Amino acid sequence: MTRRALIAGNWKMHMTTADAEVLASQVAEASKDATDRDVLVAPPFTAIGAVTAALEGSAVIVAGQNVCWEEQGAFTGEISPVMLKDLGATAAIVGHSERRQIFGESDQLINQRVVGGLKFGLTVVLCIGETLEEREAEQTLTILEKQVRGGLDGITPKDMTRVVIAYEPVWAIGTGKTASTAKAEEAHAFIRKLIGDLYEKDIADQMRILYGGSVKPANVDELMAQPDIDGALVGGAALDAESFQRIINFK
Ligand code: 13P
Repeated sequence: MTRRALIAGNWKMHMTTADAEVLASQVAEASKDATDRDVLVAPPFTAIGAVTAALEGSAVIVAGQNVCWEEQGAFTGEISPVMLKDLGATAAIVGHSERRQIFGESDQLINQRVVGGLKFGLTVVLCIGETLEEREAEQTLTILEKQVRGGLDGITPKDMTRVVIAYEPVWAIGTGKTASTAKAEEAHAFIRKLIGDLYEKDIADQMRILYGGSVKPANVDELMAQPDIDGALVGGAALDAESFQRIINFK
């Protein structure tokens, strides 16, 4: 089964509108020949409109960095799936470890976001990953299973075609430490097997599982060579057009 690779840049809380426009144009240029893979950027909410405008005519996908489950209402500080779509986004990242760790988002809350994003037609990138403490206590696979089961609770097989999973070990995010390719592959294979058990093998086989955590030009080729690593969710290196271009064009 060959899965189409997906290289995603999570811009986190960076970029003014003007900076985002420049970077988006550079990403469009950098990815124009990469027709055998998908490229996604997740700007801050404030820059999504400018980014989709700058990307017009390009195949780059635009995502929100989070999404609420309701169309509108009294949800101060949140963004609705309809608002994301209104700005031209077609996807949303959900359950990023920064949402879990800093803002206390639970698997149950994250599941509501997954359900809501899918209900309104978005592609959802569900992030999961263990902390250093959990890894040292040898709980990695248990934690991943809990986050997958919790995050995907109630999701139908049909909707699973619009779900991407991103495995991001928390200890590898922004630290310069990457999981060894063997450890990353082990986690990815485990997640795929679990999806096969929860759904069916076909769904597991077509599901894209991205790796995230200090992905950079120097390590992307080796990561992407692993059979169960189908793409990358890139933080810091996605803010630099030259580095992101190299990552998009992994070999
Ligand atoms: P870094 O690539 O900066 O480690 O960030 C990874 C990440 O959290 C992407 O969502």
